[in-house]
Amino acid sequence: MDFPQSDALNRLPKQFFAGLVQKVNRVIAEGHDVINLGQGNPDQPTPDHIVEALKGSAGNPEYHKYSPFQGFSFLKQAISTFYKREYDVDIDPESEVAILFGSKTGLVEITQCLLNPGETVLMPDPGYPDYLSGMAMANVNIEFMPLLEKNAFLPDYGQLSDDILNKAKLMFLNYPNNPTSATASNEFFEQTIEVAKARKICVVHDFAYGAIGFDGEKPRSFLQTKGAKEVGVEMYTLSKTYNMAGWRVGFALGNKSVIKALNLVQDHYYVSLFGAIQKASAEALLGPQDCVDELVARYETRRNAFMDAIHEIGWKAEAPKGSFFVWLPVPEGFTSESFADLLLEKAHVMVAPGIGFGKMGEGYVRVGLLNEPDRLVEAAKRIGALHLFKKPVK
Ligand SMILES: Cc1ncc(COP(=O)(O)O)c(C=O)c1O
Repeated sequence: MDFPQSDALNRLPKQFFAGLVQKVNRVIAEGHDVINLGQGNPDQPTPDHIVEALKGSAGNPEYHKYSPFQGFSFLKQAISTFYKREYDVDIDPESEVAILFGSKTGLVEITQCLLNPGETVLMPDPGYPDYLSGMAMANVNIEFMPLLEKNAFLPDYGQLSDDILNKAKLMFLNYPNNPTSATASNEFFEQTIEVAKARKICVVHDFAYGAIGFDGEKPRSFLQTKGAKEVGVEMYTLSKTYNMAGWRVGFALGNKSVIKALNLVQDHYYVSLFGAIQKASAEALLGPQDCVDELVARYETRRNAFMDAIHEIGWKAEAPKGSFFVWLPVPEGFTSESFADLLLEKAHVMVAPGIGFGKMGEGYVRVGLLNEPDRLVEAAKRIGALHLFKKPVK
């Protein structure tokens, strides 16, 4: 028998990037050495002291039982201490923290937690596609906020109609941004809070790349801006900061009513993370942080090598100030997809076409700095050999 899927599942958007993986695999199967700059999977291992903390806790029988619903207090306390230390933000561990199975679960669940079918969400375009999954499940109306280069890839609230702003119940933001790599200022967050308060919109700030800022600039947490907790939450993840993407540890912080709703839905879906993972996560947050400094320095070295190499071939793009992505314009005569296809077929370099992140992503491709500098330089050289750009005059 073949059982039909529910309407909710049928509404889920097509996974654009699954198709990308298939394309890469086909070219690899043909025997080519593909440099894959198309994905966002951290390439470095989890620091040893965190792995050791997991090993040391895995045998503890206390952790073999069901973990407490909503997680162990020691992890919530560690999260609160981490936010105070890193951002000078006060967080009550028991009422202002929800532990998540990776921030993705929180980002997908939150629409269902707060909205009824037909209500309106504001989604950045281009934006991280997983937000759309939660919106599809919740059957809500989506209004896109264009992120344009001329506005430094920040939404321009003045361009959204009164009608849309009045209808909106939830807004997603993400800085440092995937895919544009833009960062946000305190002034922008102040503006956001003003709009959110006036229109009663809950703000979800996805801070997945919070640890990754370049040129000595630390990305701002939304919660550092006065009034943020009144209007929303921030989602944080250990995936990027500590190369723990496979461990699935994230958390939401901020507005008590939103945290309560997230915790409620989680009580029904899950119990909580394996205790030993919670213990090792607390060690990640409270233990030595040189691993984070080293990781950021590594990404910065890669960024510099890649930016120098693309400059050499005449491809002009803004150097990212944060995240591990570079957002590059495609040359005239191409769409983001036709350009990405050409790079894969002719240069054996995979990049992510901007259209996969939304209509406003058209005209750009995203490169992930998840290879060592020699491979990034090699990728730029292979692209240069296609003579698509005008080389700078020396
Ligand atoms: C912008 C953004 N948000 C959230 C996530 C999800 O991270 P995780 O579920 O591993 O915490 C990612 C992962 O790539 C991301 O790029």
